[in-house]
Amino acid sequence: MARLLLGVSGGIAAYKALETTRLAVRHGHAVRVIQTEASIRFVGTASFEAITGAQVLTSEFEPDPLRGSYPGEPLPERSPISHLALVERADVYLIAPASANTIAKLTGGHADNLLTAAALAAPCPVAVAPAMNERMYVHPATQANLEALKARGVTIVPPGEGELASHGEHGVGRLPDPAELLAVTEALLAARRGSWAGLRVLVTAGGTREPIDSVRYMGNRSSGRMGFALASEAAMRGAAVTLVAANTGLAPPPGTRVIEVGTAAELAQACDEEFDVCDVLLMAAAVADFRPASPAHDKLKKEAGVPAPIELEPTEDVLSGLGARKRSDQILVGFAAEHGEGAVSYGLEKLERKHLDVLVVNDISKPGVGFDSDENEVTIVSADGTQRSVPRAGKDLIARAVLDDVERLRAERGTDDRGEGSDGASGAGTRSAARV
Ligand SMILES: Cc1cc2nc3c(=O)[nH]c(=O)nc-3n(C[C@H](O)[C@H](O)[C@H](O)COP(=O)(O)O)c2cc1C
Repeated sequence: MARLLLGVSGGIAAYKALETTRLAVRHGHAVRVIQTEASIRFVGTASFEAITGAQVLTSEFEPDPLRGSYPGEPLPERSPISHLALVERADVYLIAPASANTIAKLTGGHADNLLTAAALAAPCPVAVAPAMNERMYVHPATQANLEALKARGVTIVPPGEGELASHGEHGVGRLPDPAELLAVTEALLAARRGSWAGLRVLVTAGGTREPIDSVRYMGNRSSGRMGFALASEAAMRGAAVTLVAANTGLAPPPGTRVIEVGTAAELAQACDEEFDVCDVLLMAAAVADFRPASPAHDKLKKEAGVPAPIELEPTEDVLSGLGARKRSDQILVGFAAEHGEGAVSYGLEKLERKHLDVLVVNDISKPGVGFDSDENEVTIVSADGTQRSVPRAGKDLIARAVLDDVERLRAERGTDDRGEGSDGASGAGTRSAARV
């Protein structure tokens, strides 16, 4: 199942977008539809809404009752900006039919309606299916526009030849059949899914617990959701994922191998055993810095009164240990939960000290994000000096942003020699490559 965003512009072939939507839903995809004003004169919103089960949006100023989510997803807590949220969550953005006018706007970088604004903000693969009269299609302006979009990594789905809408005309310009449009869309999804094929990814998640006695422990509030989202996204991209899970109680993401651990020492041992064979380590677990030096074997009895002060000793610094022995072809990603101002500058210092490639810093003084929450708001700092702020979003979207950064670093360093994946049509790009 994928999230498909369908942009429908104004042309006779808009009716085929209905069947494309129906097929996509039947294939199990969650579909949201954006229509241009002109397209509503050809096909109304009601049929799309009935098929997708979600409101069709046209204007960037219109509130989205689903707050940028796709059918079947929980409603986000806050109302986002639609042209950013819809496309940010999308796995692929298909614009079909794409009118000559919309194609020209996309080429010029216009953002004067929801369809074009979303295209400009799309971090996902974008496919454009032109449909128009042959004279419009072969016009040098349209051809130059399509070439420009293709050069930016946009997939152009070539129109077919045959009878055209205008009476008695025959030629090139017909929108491909819905099944073909869906096949191109699914080829783009498969290319994105396979983009980490052959990579071995080690993820740690959750919070360690350090025994005080046989039932009590020192722990932390980490739920494991961030690590699980990372594992899930890496598996979705085709990586072989090992997930070291500390006290999470969460269902393992499909296609991942899970090693359950309890204490910092157990987590350190699991990482020690798995690290050398991994290409990417995502260290999202909250590992205790201290543990009781001499935990009681039995339960401390209440009747015995308040126990003597618990003496603490440091635990293994797992990240520093692995950072010190990291090979140049490995990428090590750390996470830092810091409090208040200075969180990022502290993070930069930690990045260097621990020999990390990427550090994901989240300021846990901000309410509603981080520990025990479905959402997060982070700054991703990389060893190459780049810093990227990811505004408050679900942990699945944060995971995407982190993995995109790892992908960028690997490509920069030349450690990613597996190519860009096949497109199934002309000019497909990877998730981060396509720019409208
Ligand atoms: C009956 C009719 C059919 C049209 N068919 C097409 C078409 O197939 N392709 C196209 O590019 N434009 C077609 N147009 C022109 C577009 O609707 C027009 O350029 C409009 O501004 C497109 O707006 P949009 O790109 O915002 O959807 C047609 C117009 C009319 C009145």
